[in-house]
Amino acid sequence: MIRFNNSKISKNKKLLIFISDSIRKIFGGDRVKRLSKIMLRICEDIYFKNKKKITILDFGCGSMEISKKLEKLSYVKQITGVDTFASKFKTKKLKYVQYDDFFKNNKKKFDLVIIVDVLHHIGVDDSYKVLKKLSKVSKNIIIKDHFEHGFFSRQLLRFVDFYANYAYDVNIPKKYYDYNSWKKTIKKSYLKEVKIINSFQQHDGLFNFILNKKHHFVSHLRYVKK
Ligand SMILES: C[S@@+](CC[C@H](N)C(=O)[O-])C[C@H]1O[C@@H](n2cnc3c(N)ncnc32)[C@H](O)[C@@H]1O
Repeated sequence: MIRFNNSKISKNKKLLIFISDSIRKIFGGDRVKRLSKIMLRICEDIYFKNKKKITILDFGCGSMEISKKLEKLSYVKQITGVDTFASKFKTKKLKYVQYDDFFKNNKKKFDLVIIVDVLHHIGVDDSYKVLKKLSKVSKNIIIKDHFEHGFFSRQLLRFVDFYANYAYDVNIPKKYYDYNSWKKTIKKSYLKEVKIINSFQQHDGLFNFILNKKHHFVSHLRYVKK
C-alpha cells in the first residue's frame, strides 16, 4: 500500500517498500486482483438495479489501488477517497478528501461505500461509530476485513498487518473481529447484513498459505429505514 505523496518517506523506508512489494509479487501477495473483482461485481449489481451511473466513497482509501481499477468501469461516475493524511490528489473520476473535512463538509450521497481493510485499524470496539456515520451517506456499505480464530490466528494477523503497513505509520490493532464481535458491530450500527462471504481468498501462493481464506471476509451492509 502506497500513499499518493511519497516524497516525505525516508530512503530506508522506500527501500523496505520496494523489498516488500517485490516479495508480494513473487509469492502471490497481490491483494488488489481478487478484491477489485468482487467490488466490481457489486458495483455492477447496483448499476443494473438503479440503471444510472454510480458514485462511490472509498473510505480509508490509502493509495486508492482498488478505486483505480473501479474507475475504469464506464458506469462508475465518480469515486471519492477519504483517509487521514493530507493530499490534493485528483483525476477526472477520482478525488481525495481528508477525513475531518469530509465529515465536516460533505453533503453528498453515494451509491456505495467501500471500506477495505480499514475498520480493524479504527478499532473493533469503536468501528460501529464510523459505520453509523457512513450509513447517512449511502444505503450500501461493503466491508472487507479480517476474522481472527484464536490466539495464534490473531498474532499472525498482527504480524501480517505490521509487515503490510510498517512504512506508513498505521496503527496495528491488538485484536480483530470474530463472528460474534462482527455481528455485535452490525447491530450497534443499526445496519442490516444482506450478504456475507465468511471465507474470502485474497491471495495466491505462499501468501494464501500463510494467511488463508478464513482470515478474510466481505460483508454487504444496508441501511434500512426504521
Ligand atoms: C491497510 S490500509 C487499506 C487501504 C485501502 N483501503 C486498500 O485496501 O488498499 C488501511 C487504511 O486505513 C486508513 N485509516 C486508518 N484509520 C482511519 C480512520 N479513522 N479514518 C479513515 N481512514 C483510516 C489508513 O490511513 C490506511 O490508509
